[in-house]
Amino acid sequence: MNIILLGPPGAGKGTQAQRLVERHGMRQLSTGDMLRAAVKAGTPVGLQAKAVMERGELVSDDIVSALIGEELDGMGAGVGAIFDGYPRTEAQAASLDGILAARGRSLDHVIELAVDEDALVERITGRYTCATCGKGYHDKFEQPKLPGVCDKCNGTEFKRRPDDNEETVRTRMAEYRAKTAPILPGYEARGIVARVNGMAEMDHVTAAIERIVAK
Ligand code: AP5
Repeated sequence: MNIILLGPPGAGKGTQAQRLVERHGMRQLSTGDMLRAAVKAGTPVGLQAKAVMERGELVSDDIVSALIGEELDGMGAGVGAIFDGYPRTEAQAASLDGILAARGRSLDHVIELAVDEDALVERITGRYTCATCGKGYHDKFEQPKLPGVCDKCNGTEFKRRPDDNEETVRTRMAEYRAKTAPILPGYEARGIVARVNGMAEMDHVTAAIERIVAK
């Protein structure tokens, strides 16, 4: 099964993708994570992407589509893909069709996380991750069971993203409205879009997604 999780920054794409991985053994393909790894490693792609990401703008279509193709090539044919943060433009959506067809895959579901943008700034500016295993947390909505200790790996170091400040978040939202939201009608015409209330509690969002993937 191949799924796109679509929604503005902070809608919960990464959170729900991690849960699908745990439940179904699928693979999360997050272009944001891939780009952050490239920035950290100082690769040519990372050097190009760093300033663009810090401004909250979109990295070039060719770069992200190449990253997705490489990731898919490294996966077993039977492993399902969750596209998290990709595609984000009409050009990327067209590329994804070609990338999947060339590998004998096709899209099963586009799951749109519908959210209230005003609440997203609080979500994003409050989030952090375990520096060791990457598990996500939030100051208010998802704290470690034992304060300061990761539930998953017992790590004690946590980090926040440099683009998770209010000004950059506003730019990321504007980019979503202008360039990403317009890809939805194309998928709607193919009858593969399902809409989920992303403002519900995390477990309720997960349950709604489970009902969609069980179809
Ligand atoms: P990327 O990393 O993809 O960021 P994003 O799309 O802005 O999405 P986020 O990771 O911010 O949010 P999310 O929806 O995953 O929310 P999360 O689950 O963490 O991209 C970063 C940058 O990379 C872009 O700006 C761009 O520059 C570049 N880039 C990436 N892909 C690109 C592409 N394809 N093309 C071009 N450029 C690209 O949830 C947020 C918080 O809310 C968490 O703390 C979570 O615990 C909490 N939360 C989640 N769900 C709920 C809930 N139901 N209730 C309460 N709290 C919740």
